[in-house]
Amino acid sequence: MSSQNEQTFVMVKPDGVERGLVGEIISRLENKRLNLRKITMLEVSKELAQTHYQEHRDKPFFNDLINYITSGPVVAMVWEGDNVIEVVRKLIGDTDPKKAAPGTIRGDLALDITYNLVHGSDSEDTAKREINLFFRPTN
Ligand code: TYD
Ligand code: MG
Repeated sequence: MSSQNEQTFVMVKPDGVERGLVGEIISRLENKRLNLRKITMLEVSKELAQTHYQEHRDKPFFNDLINYITSGPVVAMVWEGDNVIEVVRKLIGDTDPKKAAPGTIRGDLALDITYNLVHGSDSEDTAKREINLFFRPTN
């Protein structure tokens, strides 16, 4: 099956917005020929943050993660393209910016694992779940 129309959820985290890196991050994905389908700026509530990161709720870094992600506005996006989930994860780079390869967003622009600038879904199921969470159809 073709993954041409695959979609993923990408979020510029509060440090990315604060540092003025929204344009830089969008440019990297656009330059890769991926297509921006939806975009919105919002402040993430504690409830939304906890649901979004529910897989990590028992991890020692969970509280810091929730406090950070709710500390300021984020930019939530849906991106589309061939194999976009994996491609975006590659462009973002390793979770720990100290280990992330040069040329990746985290490798070039971040240093601290908490403040790692950007989120990208890690699987098809996660992408669907996260897109629905942040872009719930309104009525
Ligand atoms: P994770 O989903 O493992 O990473 P990714 O964002 O690359 O998918 O973890 C979610 C976030 O939690 C991660 O972006 C930063 C934070 N985190 C820590 O603060 N410390 C850690 O040891 C890990 C694994 C993650
Ligand atoms: Mg993850």
